[in-house]
Amino acid sequence: MSSSTSSQGVVDRVQSFVSENKRAILIGTAAALVAIGGVAYYASTSRSGGNEGDSEKGERKKDKKKNKKRKTVKDKDGPILEERAPKDADVPEDGVVFTAEEIARMPTLERSMLAATLKAKGNAAYQQRKFNTAIDLYSRAIQVTPKPEPVFFSNRAACYVNMSPPEYQKVVEDCDMALSLDSGYVKALNRRATALEALEQLEDALRDYTAATILDKFQNEAAAASVERVLKKLSTKKSEEILSTRERRLPSHMFISAYFGAFRPRPLPELPAEHTTGDETLILGLQALAAADYVHALTLVNEAIEQGISWDAGKAEALNLRGTFKFLMTDVVGAKEDFLASIELAPSLTQTWVKIASVYMEQGEPQKTFECFEEAIKHNPDDPDIYYHRGQVLFIMNEFTEAAENYTKSTTLDDQFVFSHIQLAVAQYKSGNLANSMATFRRTLKAFPQRSEPQNYYGELLLDQQRFQDAIDKFDRAIELERAKPPPINVLPQVNKGLALYQWKQDIGAAERCCQEALRADPECEAAVATLAQLSLQQGKIEYALEMFERQSELARSEPELINALTYQYATAAQLDFMKHYPEMAGQLSQMARMA
Ligand SMILES: *[C@@H]1O[C@H](CO)[C@@H](O)[C@H](O)[C@H]1NC(C)=O
Repeated sequence: MSSSTSSQGVVDRVQSFVSENKRAILIGTAAALVAIGGVAYYASTSRSGGNEGDSEKGERKKDKKKNKKRKTVKDKDGPILEERAPKDADVPEDGVVFTAEEIARMPTLERSMLAATLKAKGNAAYQQRKFNTAIDLYSRAIQVTPKPEPVFFSNRAACYVNMSPPEYQKVVEDCDMALSLDSGYVKALNRRATALEALEQLEDALRDYTAATILDKFQNEAAAASVERVLKKLSTKKSEEILSTRERRLPSHMFISAYFGAFRPRPLPELPAEHTTGDETLILGLQALAAADYVHALTLVNEAIEQGISWDAGKAEALNLRGTFKFLMTDVVGAKEDFLASIELAPSLTQTWVKIASVYMEQGEPQKTFECFEEAIKHNPDDPDIYYHRGQVLFIMNEFTEAAENYTKSTTLDDQFVFSHIQLAVAQYKSGNLANSMATFRRTLKAFPQRSEPQNYYGELLLDQQRFQDAIDKFDRAIELERAKPPPINVLPQVNKGLALYQWKQDIGAAERCCQEALRADPECEAAVATLAQLSLQQGKIEYALEMFERQSELARSEPELINALTYQYATAAQLDFMKHYPEMAGQLSQMARMA
């Protein structure tokens, strides 16, 4: 949790910047960007969450009412809307069916007229809700016509929608035919999309709804709402699939070291005089941890527990460490088990209480979270870690004043941990105490002249105040300090600089270069990937944007992060698909954009 303040912050800001500007993107830059902004628009509104259940219900109610009024058919796009009523009297009897030979002998004109008549009769039958008859009539129209018309198939599809149960597979097949004859047939697109959605072929449904929305120039609200709905279903479903099958893995080195960095180092536990192999393995694991060799630390601690640890204090350490790794690998339940077992063996290990607090926070139980902090304080009221982490929880809950008090307490107990100072300054800023915040930052810059973090976060705060040049100066200083140290380097200042250049001068090229450079140094920097994705999207580099969103999905750790990345990924993919299938439209859109 504490560690996520760093990189997650940037990602959030990138995305909120984009969503705050979505109107501007949508309205201001017109067509090609309509399409592009459209993606950002769907994605950001679908992220808003909240009372979607209600609105959906509301919509359904509305639909019902509409249907009652029309009293006709289930499918709102039924053929009645597009067809005139039959008027010819001289039509063959309904029962007359021609053989293939008879049809072949008929003159073309006669066949056309016959087809038109059959279609008209089909429409009449449809209106009377005689769907089987209508299907038969449309089928015969298809059989006799010398030149198949898309409407024959689309109308027959409408009948299949109205069968009970609806025959969605046939709807799809007929719409396929209709669309192969006229790819811009919006009604058929919407109809096929509905069927595909019902068949749970969500990716295909999204592709069709997206195309329908763009072809309608974003005027059709129902289609736009469908895009959002399917996008949400699709990303939620995919996210579940991915998370249930993906092997749990450690986050980036930067992330892990930030997490462990938020706990003050403790001396190694003392080995008992008579010790086992497991005991020795544990000590090796803790040494690997101290050397920031996390992969080995993880393997060794697992091994130690398997081999068996002979003394309670050692076991408690081991369980604490294994639980921490599980927590980092988003196995919250497993982490909790280990932490609780650890606290059972060593109730005075305040670190474990603090970590259990994080678990409860993760599980949405703030009450229990605070009880754990209280318990930790009972065991050691002078442990600065407790107050820092309680500050973090309060910060997340937007309780900035209390958060600031807790950070201050942490710094009075130990003033060597740079993040308590930084977080204090940020909490003061968030609670509207600008002067104090600036003073805290200036003090922190002076106290930690070799650390990049105060520079970076001070820069963020300046950026928030739109003091662009000052912000960039701080980011530059942070970049310089990071370059001076041995790798791995923290590339966040680089990404921030890019974002600042973009917000200040709309210099997309420079922003991209900053992010690319960041990625070269740290290919797992989610903030850089997310920013690049958004920047590419805004320039219409859809393919590259898609690549970046896919990468963002790979890097995403938690479920909300993954759903968010997948939402953008699928929205972008659907749009790319549109541009491939409707190149004329894509060209037209970008031309309009250039003129705007
Ligand atoms: C820290 O937060 C707790 C819980 O909200 C609050 O009761 C306390 O007053 C704050 N300050 C200190 C110094 O602990």
